[in-house]
Amino acid sequence: MKIDLAGKVALVTGSATGIGRAIAEALSASGARVALNHFGQGALMADVLDSLGGDARAFDADVTDGAAVQRMVAAVEWQLGPIDILVNNAGILLEKPFLDIADYEWDHVIAVDLKSVFLCSQAVLRNMQPRGRGCIINVASELAYLGRAGFTAYCAAKAGVVGLTKSLAREFAPAIRVNGIAPGPTDTAMLSLDQISAEWRAKELAIPAARAAGADEIAATAVFLASDFARFYYGQMLSPNGGALML
Ligand SMILES: NC(=O)c1ccc[n+]([C@@H]2O[C@H](COP(=O)([O-])OP(=O)(O)OC[C@H]3O[C@@H](n4cnc5c(N)ncnc54)[C@H](O)[C@@H]3O)[C@@H](O)[C@H]2O)c1
Repeated sequence: MKIDLAGKVALVTGSATGIGRAIAEALSASGARVALNHFGQGALMADVLDSLGGDARAFDADVTDGAAVQRMVAAVEWQLGPIDILVNNAGILLEKPFLDIADYEWDHVIAVDLKSVFLCSQAVLRNMQPRGRGCIINVASELAYLGRAGFTAYCAAKAGVVGLTKSLAREFAPAIRVNGIAPGPTDTAMLSLDQISAEWRAKELAIPAARAAGADEIAATAVFLASDFARFYYGQMLSPNGGALML
């Protein structure tokens, strides 16, 4: 089974690092021209673009800012052509007891993890719908289903992404396929001890696979969902999660 995305244009949000970078690399390796969104990480992007080669370009935009997102989508379509594949990947984590979360912290997590999916999808769909083809892939989390003490804002936002994915899938079918990925623990900065406690990291890794995924293992699911092999997938959340959650 060979996936060929030649001639397709893909926009991946939050692709300076981690899963987003791996998805951008995998889409590019499958032949797509890739637009890599980052937020003020220009210093990292030279290396990322080097690893992709070819037609890939970087676009700096805060995906929580509607005007910036619209400018980014217009710039991508101007420079690379109509967007066929949107991967809403950008995200942040907040580990904090529920009673200590400030309003602004809650709003920020919801903005990056959920509102960005609304903003980027709307901006892309305005042009994608009239063209009558394309797909959207939203990166949620296994925690959308499991919940996790100390991660309420993140889990709420990611559960929102699941609902948004299914509703968009129904509203834009059959021409446009909207699906998602609910990864389990993945070896990126988000799972590092800089960002989460040792206690939670240990809990995350106590799964049947007994390890975190490599970002490339999550990226493979994105490439599949972007391909024609997934043409009968609508509103599905695929879960490369090492057995953390068995649906
Ligand atoms: N690592 C895991 O264990 C894991 C598990 C399940 C889901 N996820 C999800 O995978 C996605 C990627 O996370 P990752 O693990 O690669 O971590 P990461 O921190 O390496 O990647 C997140 C990216 O989002 C970008 N970003 C944050 N705010 C942004 C903004 N306002 N505008 C544009 N970009 C922004 C960051 O700069 C970063 O490059 C996230 O949605 C995350 O919730 C990760």
